[in-house]
Amino acid sequence: MHIDVITIFPDYLAPLDLSLSGKAQGAGVLEVTVHDLRQWTRNRHRTVDDTPYGGGAGMVMRPEPWGEALDALVPLGCSSPPTMLVPTPTGRPLTQSLAEELAQVTRLLIACGRFEGIDARVVEHARSRMPVLEVSIGDYVVTGGEVAALVIIEAVVRLLPGFMGNPGSLDEESHGTGEGQGLLEYPTYTKPVTWRGLDVPAVLLSGHHAQVTRWRREQSLRRTARVRPDLLATYDVASLDPRDREVLAEEGWPGS
Ligand code: 6GU
Repeated sequence: MHIDVITIFPDYLAPLDLSLSGKAQGAGVLEVTVHDLRQWTRNRHRTVDDTPYGGGAGMVMRPEPWGEALDALVPLGCSSPPTMLVPTPTGRPLTQSLAEELAQVTRLLIACGRFEGIDARVVEHARSRMPVLEVSIGDYVVTGGEVAALVIIEAVVRLLPGFMGNPGSLDEESHGTGEGQGLLEYPTYTKPVTWRGLDVPAVLLSGHHAQVTRWRREQSLRRTARVRPDLLATYDVASLDPRDREVLAEEGWPGS
């Protein structure tokens, strides 16, 4: 996968050379190119923003540098245009299933806005050249699209084939689409068996695989009922067995 990122703060994307995405780049699975939007300005002060038409607080990114950037990275009639992602709190929520869809494309272009956003004509214009998706990372506001771009890239890159060392660890995780989907992941433990007076749950040391599986499922159900009841509300009730219902009843879950 190739990812182009356009930003006025290229240094903000430096973490992409570390850890997981760094490893993916080393392995040739991923190639990230970060572009400074200001290279596509033509005015002496290289300004990229201006006051909003209609008034109001803050500044809006002017469309011209974005137009030049798109011309340079996605020339008119480009045979294999990228999917363009625009991080914005007004976008479609990033979910695991959206991350999985994005992991299927060969090229992404992420346009990071600052200030109060990018002139709305940029997205409109870009749609004439490539698929464009406005994406939000959650119901809160962060200052710029850069941190959202990092989040999106981390979520997508770990799903690329040949990237994760242990593909099995993708199956059971929270928000995964494997077994236990729709539930939060169970708690995990490692050595030592006793630490500061706290013991690892005995069942995990028992060697009884079926009991371990049952215990983990209960922990997932309890944790989800307590922390994310909204996830249970849309859960496929048909996949609950009688013991699951008991566990949820203990957590005070209605309808179990
Ligand atoms: Cl993608 N950008 C910004 N600036 N704030 C956000 C966001 C994105 N998603 C949630 N809040």
